[in-house]
Amino acid sequence: MKKRNGGALSREEIYSTVHGFVRGEIPDYQMAALLMAIYFRGMEPREVSDLTMAMVDSGERVDLSSVPGVKVDKHSTGGVGDKTTLVLAPLVAAAGIPVAKMSGRGLGHTGGTLDKLESIPGFRVGLSPQEFLDNVRRIGLAVVGQTGRLVPADGKLYALRDVTATVDSLPLIASSIMSKKIAGGAQAIVLDVKTGSGAFMKSFADSLSLAQVMVSIGERVGRGTRAVISDMDQPLGRAVGNALEVKEAIATLTGEGPADLTELCLTLGSQMVSLAGLAADPNQARSQLEELLATGKAFQKLEEMVTAQGGQPQALRNLSLLPAAKRTKPFQAARGGYVQSLDALMVGRAAMALGAGRATKESPIDLAVGVILEKKVGEAIEKGDVLAQVHYNSEAQVEEAFTFLTEAFRIGAERPPARPLIQAIVTAEGVEKLGVG
Ligand code: URA
Repeated sequence: MKKRNGGALSREEIYSTVHGFVRGEIPDYQMAALLMAIYFRGMEPREVSDLTMAMVDSGERVDLSSVPGVKVDKHSTGGVGDKTTLVLAPLVAAAGIPVAKMSGRGLGHTGGTLDKLESIPGFRVGLSPQEFLDNVRRIGLAVVGQTGRLVPADGKLYALRDVTATVDSLPLIASSIMSKKIAGGAQAIVLDVKTGSGAFMKSFADSLSLAQVMVSIGERVGRGTRAVISDMDQPLGRAVGNALEVKEAIATLTGEGPADLTELCLTLGSQMVSLAGLAADPNQARSQLEELLATGKAFQKLEEMVTAQGGQPQALRNLSLLPAAKRTKPFQAARGGYVQSLDALMVGRAAMALGAGRATKESPIDLAVGVILEKKVGEAIEKGDVLAQVHYNSEAQVEEAFTFLTEAFRIGAERPPARPLIQAIVTAEGVEKLGVG
């Protein structure tokens, strides 16, 4: 009733409600009513940070105190072709940041880091807590799946939000994301908040608000936090699909990746390295990271991680050892002009139709299939040019993928205005706008 009437909940009220709900003492119908009241009334910054910490305290935390160095974690709100972690984790680990990363699986049109990593033959994402810590201490890097023991409140609350139309509430999204990072042991956090058709937040204004709420939570609970707002109107890079994305990540770590993916990794990495205090500012950090790419040290860190997690490191140099689809089919332009837009959501659906993504948590996925975008927004094309190569294993799925790709590519006579990849950087000090918005 207090929240329904627009009041602010005390810390004690938030803690007792969240913990009572997790223990099963507060029934779903009452929590559902509270979630709806929060949806309409919102929360003050103090309430959101209390909610975040109440969620963190609902379960275990990863104890990284035995790992020397400042533990900076990164989170992406998710997108299509977003293989950033595969590049960024070894890159910043090579720069001296201990990376103890918990990642997720793909669901719906967005892919998941764990699935991508599992396309490396032998790679294990299910390390024991001891192995996880040992690897971080020994080589500075490990990427594993999240255990159910961290933030049980989030799983329970999310399931209820999902069926009560209360997922898209800023305080609820922000506390859900930040609680998992904090429980994972992060001392500082860099957020990649996506914006555009393939993103959770479609408009710049909504993405900015989410970024600001999360930065505010982090700062209030003593975790230096910065957010980068990056474009997800078209997919990131050119590869969409698990093994295809691993190949693109390897190319990026050896200095031959697509410009947008490279730029995003350098931007996020510079923020992480400067937050960790390993460089005076993001510009100096960027030079360090460029050097680590150029000298192959970042790539070597990926090799070390793959070896330490049971994967075949040879597969990183001999890409024919990675899963490959049986056939490819070109998707061609029906007319000439310029690519006006390339809807990330539709490309994600095309990849899903091929079997690269899962519709439900239990669906199996095909690691080999996906789409390589030969043309992206702003590129000139002629009728018949190959816009995308579809990598597939089953003839029946190609037609559906082509239907989505037809919707994804919008071709027009004029070259469209450039849409910047990095649109804003949000820090405790304020917002630096770098593009549209
Ligand atoms: N991602 C999360 O982890 N939580 C949300 O509530 C929404 C997106």
